[in-house]
Amino acid sequence: MSESGFIAAVDVGRMPSEDLAALLRVSSMLASTLDLPSIMQTAITSACELMDLETGAIYLLDGSTLVLQATAPPTPPDFPDMYRRAPLQDHPHIARCLIGRDPIFVEDSSKETMSPAEAGICEARGLRSILYVPLVVDAVSAGAFIMGSIGRAKEMGKTDVDLCRTLAHQISLAINNAQLHDSLLDANTHLARAYDETLAGWALALEMRDHETRGHSDRVERLTMQLAAEMGIPREQWDHVRRGTLLHDIGKMGVPDAILQKPGPLTDDEWAIMRTHPQKAREMLGSIDFLAPALDIPYCHHERWDGTGYPRGLAGDAIPLAARIFSVVDVYDALTSDRHYRPGWSRQQALDYIRQETGLQFDPRVVEAFFSLIGEAERGSGLETVP
Ligand code: C2E
Ligand code: SIN
Ligand code: SIN
Ligand code: FE
Ligand code: FE
Repeated sequence: MSESGFIAAVDVGRMPSEDLAALLRVSSMLASTLDLPSIMQTAITSACELMDLETGAIYLLDGSTLVLQATAPPTPPDFPDMYRRAPLQDHPHIARCLIGRDPIFVEDSSKETMSPAEAGICEARGLRSILYVPLVVDAVSAGAFIMGSIGRAKEMGKTDVDLCRTLAHQISLAINNAQLHDSLLDANTHLARAYDETLAGWALALEMRDHETRGHSDRVERLTMQLAAEMGIPREQWDHVRRGTLLHDIGKMGVPDAILQKPGPLTDDEWAIMRTHPQKAREMLGSIDFLAPALDIPYCHHERWDGTGYPRGLAGDAIPLAARIFSVVDVYDALTSDRHYRPGWSRQQALDYIRQETGLQFDPRVVEAFFSLIGEAERGSGLETVP
């Protein structure tokens, strides 16, 4: 499993958008606290809900001892201590999962060879199907995330495994952050970092689902930040602008694949759905404190200077500056990229289009700054050449 972006392990192309949206809600919840026990509890409870399962548990390794950290449903007060701490060797399935660092799925524990300790737990709790996913911290197996069905065998497919890996990765990040907590960084820095790692994962997931040319987000981010700095967006807003840029099309999570990935032009009905993506972004991000200030771009990037854009038909300065800047960069990048619905335009065609739309789609001041930035890039002023 990848250690870089948390969502990198998820095959988002196969995940229904409602699942993605639910995952997004969960992961933002997970990233919003440094409290490890509640992160683990939330991860298990959410996984139960998302996967339609009855139970889950998280163990961390203390030396060669497994220590139970969290369960759903919660363990009763008389829960035997022998189930809270157990030698790893008594749990060969967990051991194999930790050593191989790969998920293991047991479809029916009553038909599988289990050790006495494992059989004891399965019997006591009626556990039938079990998915074991490793928690890997700093490239070392640190514990296991275990999900299971009670009283009935339950098939778990690739989407379920992907979902658990994603949550496991986020738990791992949280463990890592908690371990670093004693260092010099303050809690806010930790939180911001946990969030930003999460955001990078979402951006990657979106890119994959949209089948965009790799690097779209990076390129758009670089140009947008450069323009934001030049056009006087105050420094204390830069992080919000950056996050808004990464998440500009997060609302497309709510647009079905059949529309998002349609090879040809959209029908009126399909357009109506596609045009809801800024509003959906607002619903998804607006309730997350950390991201609410980053909403300008996701919510307003399809407004037009002349007032004919969507969702609100804002005109001129009523459109937030960050969104006016971003829309030039986004359209330039969209036009020069291959899309499902058309091949990419040449660089010159795209630049001509932007020129021609000055004062109509785009803010003239932004277009001017954009062209001078691109000119500078060509003269090699330290910026990479704009593709
Ligand atoms: P996108 O492909 O990332 O495009 C973003 C924006 O770049 C578009 O916003 C539009 O302002 C500009 N743009 C992209 N391609 C073209 C083009 O060929 N001609 C012109 N004049 N402008 C272009 P818009 O139009 O609001 O579209 C939003 C999103 O809707 C697009 O994001 C894409 O995901 C989807 N979409 C747009 N047109 C089609 C289509 O014909 N077929 C399909 N399947 N999806 C489409
Ligand atoms: C569990 O506690 O959920 C599973 C225990 C095991 O299989 O060892
Ligand atoms: C993209 O980032 O390619 C999508 C552009 C948009 O719809 O804003
Ligand atoms: Fe968009
Ligand atoms: Fe875009």
